Amino acid sequence: MIASLSSLVTSFWAALHLRTLLLAAVTFLFLVNMLRSRHPKNYPPGPWRLPFMGNFFQIDFEQRHLVLQQFVKKYGNVFSLELGRSSVVVVSGLPLIKKMFTHLDQNFVNRFLSPVRERITGNNGLIGSNGQTWKEQRRFALMTLRNFGLGKKSLEQRMQEEAYHLVEAIGEEGGQPLDPHLKINNAVSNIICSVTFGERFEYEDCQFQELLKLLDEAMHLQGSVAGQLYNAFPRIMKYLPGPHQKIFRNWEELKLFISHIIKKHQKDWNPDEPRDFIDAFLMEMQKHSGRKTSSFNEENLICSTLDLFLAGTETTSTTLRWALLYMTVYPEIQENVQAEIDRVVGHKRQVSLSDRDSMPYTNAVIHEVQRMGNIIPLNVPREVTVDTKLDGFHLPKGTVIMTNLTALHRDPKEWATPEVFNPEHFLENGQFKKRESFLPFSMGKRACLGEQLARSELFIFFSALMQRFTFKPPINEKLSLKFRMGLTLSPVKHRICAVPRL
Ligand code: HEM
Ligand SMILES: *[C@@H]1O[C@H](CO)[C@@H](O)[C@H](O)[C@H]1NC(C)=O
Repeated sequence: MIASLSSLVTSFWAALHLRTLLLAAVTFLFLVNMLRSRHPKNYPPGPWRLPFMGNFFQIDFEQRHLVLQQFVKKYGNVFSLELGRSSVVVVSGLPLIKKMFTHLDQNFVNRFLSPVRERITGNNGLIGSNGQTWKEQRRFALMTLRNFGLGKKSLEQRMQEEAYHLVEAIGEEGGQPLDPHLKINNAVSNIICSVTFGERFEYEDCQFQELLKLLDEAMHLQGSVAGQLYNAFPRIMKYLPGPHQKIFRNWEELKLFISHIIKKHQKDWNPDEPRDFIDAFLMEMQKHSGRKTSSFNEENLICSTLDLFLAGTETTSTTLRWALLYMTVYPEIQENVQAEIDRVVGHKRQVSLSDRDSMPYTNAVIHEVQRMGNIIPLNVPREVTVDTKLDGFHLPKGTVIMTNLTALHRDPKEWATPEVFNPEHFLENGQFKKRESFLPFSMGKRACLGEQLARSELFIFFSALMQRFTFKPPINEKLSLKFRMGLTLSPVKHRICAVPRL
């Protein structure tokens, strides 16, 4: 009896062709996938998507902010994409972006945590946290940045000192071709380091240079195909070897570096004399100790410090590198900047922030560098906090939102020469003119926390370099304005000559 039953089963299986089975399985999975990713009524339109993969392979990761143009043309200012397990909506156009970040700010205030970021910080720190933790950490960071010099003399002096060191270091090359990347990175990083750790690092400090390299590498990998693949398919990628694993190794090392500095602070901490961000945070931890719901704990200390370090280094440094590159490509503009500095500041004294109002041309050039450099082309993604209506479309809670800053910065209706570097965009009758379609720091409650600091740094460093050097391409070389895609758009590796001015 049992024997005949088992033979029946065997013949049943034999009768089913293996291919039929496979086909059934695949169809089943397709259906499950379709049901899972069915969108509500009035969801923004978007291109046809593959099951599981979504639109992943329709996007060229080396220029992902550009290649989707066809979709904008076809679907308009609000369209959707499916990237792995995330539903993404891309919003373009000043009126909509302004509406999102003013009237509807609360609905878009949350940060989207990519799986990479999720694994690195969880809901800790400044950039990737949400809810109460974000509110507490952001308020505290803003206040502390202010207390340790933002808007005060001391931080400006630190910037001037650092600019002096940078000029010295670059001057040592005697006008020979150099890649200024690491020196600029180090100088810029020293400003945020002095606020957070209370110290600056020498440009020869190998350990610090190594860390900056780890950071640069991690950022680059996070924006690369490997990083995006991890974000799209984290559960599979987690177990596969590849460059994405390096992202996590680098972050572990960066965290270790910060923990080490925190330990040192704890040893010689004097609550009566907070020296920097870490000291102030330790104080806050003591105040809130025993309260479980407080976000002032060691994990947030590490992550917030790391976030300030990360956000305060790469962005400003990349912008400065674009600035020097644009000056070599537009020597007449460089001459105009130098003439203004010579007239307003002269050769002897250091540039200070109070000179900015008397230097509209230089100020306009820096803005134009930020417009053209466009280093964060799709802003930092947000997440919809509650079901929201935007421009007649329904955006369910949890939808990932990208705002297309590139579209603003290159809008032919807004800029006289959208694709050409032209400081006149920010000038009117020789005076500096603000522009609404210029949002490199984004806007609203979640906008860049370091805007003021960044703008001060850009002005002091750029002016100090222009005061001392003329930047030129190496002989017989043509410098390229091509970008490298990472978490920011940065210039491709290049060398440049800093010829001392007399
Ligand atoms: C040229 C330099 C910089 C640019 C272009 C820039 C741009 C941005 C952008 C576009 C965002 C996302 C805002 C949003 O979601 O709407 C952001 C966030 C942020 N930036 Fe900057 N940034 C720069 C420099 C700095 C500096 C120097 C600091 C250091 C204090 C900093 C700290 C932050 C932090 C902590 C956030 C996260 C804020 C939050 O999520 O609440 N940034 N930045
Ligand atoms: C953003 O805008 C630019 C300029 O209009 C366009 O080329 C690009 O395709 C847009 N990107 C996305 C993702 O919408």
